[in-house]
Amino acid sequence: MPKDFLSVADWSADELRGMLARARELKDLLKRGERPQTLEGRTLVMYFEHPSLRTRVTFEAGMTQLGGHAILLRPEEVGIGTREPASDVARNLSRWVDGLMARAPSHALLEELARVATIPIVNGLTDLLHPCQVMADLLTISERADPERVEIAYVGDGNNVANSLLLACSVLGLRLRLGTPASHRPAVRVRRQAEERAARSGARILWTEDPVEAVRGADFVYTDVWASMGQETEAQTRRKIFRPYQVNARLLQHAPDALVMHDLPAHRGEEITDEVLDGPRSIVFDQAENRLHAQKAILERLLSRRR
Ligand code: CP
Ligand code: NVA
Repeated sequence: MPKDFLSVADWSADELRGMLARARELKDLLKRGERPQTLEGRTLVMYFEHPSLRTRVTFEAGMTQLGGHAILLRPEEVGIGTREPASDVARNLSRWVDGLMARAPSHALLEELARVATIPIVNGLTDLLHPCQVMADLLTISERADPERVEIAYVGDGNNVANSLLLACSVLGLRLRLGTPASHRPAVRVRRQAEERAARSGARILWTEDPVEAVRGADFVYTDVWASMGQETEAQTRRKIFRPYQVNARLLQHAPDALVMHDLPAHRGEEITDEVLDGPRSIVFDQAENRLHAQKAILERLLSRRR
């Protein structure tokens, strides 16, 4: 079993399914008022170089519910690369706490922290990947249908969320149609990994530049922002590039039975219309809720085996 949760591609299909099953169980238990104290006495450090609502709150609430504790560290307090190198931060934290959840633009930074630290590192979003998000998304899909029997469509930017969705579907043998401009397909490194995993799992991954072809007859239509955190200066150019990929009532006519997904925060009126986001087919707040349950399962898996 891997030490860290940097990418879903580091984990086997069985391991991912096991975590999703535990997430379902933890969700049911919480609804009945039961909070198993499986991480009693454990501490998680949370480090954020980007803003966050969902990731920050669900990791901290998750640790509390499991009987543990979370400490928030801001980059200006730690000064990775200015006050001291990432490797020394990793060595120090490894002596005190049981895990580190980090959100930073640089995926290489998380890989370095993971290499040096003896504690688990959890990826709370990098420019490359957002693995905790897709675990919550798979949990959400599985509450509505058998993931192995559905067509999932993702339209918009081939960004961190798209990359992780692609990897998750490839590992788990699912069907995914990606609709992105040719210039904004998922990262080459991720596509290669995905192809390799899909060859083993039997996943059916299709890419098209045509948003209508991507969503036609799909069961789930997923989108994310056109300008991710750190790309704010490109927002105007991106609005032009991605305009045909907006998830609106017209596009959804081609997927009349589809449920609509978004990881949030949404740029309303850009990648998705208010009408769709607030409409009856939207399951975006189920996704947000499931961040809590999915991450509790991830935290248990990584942190409870220690000591
Ligand atoms: N979806 C997501 O990661 O939300 P936050 O940026 O608010 O954490
Ligand atoms: N792609 C988005 C996801 C936010 C949760 C970003 O990186 O900003």
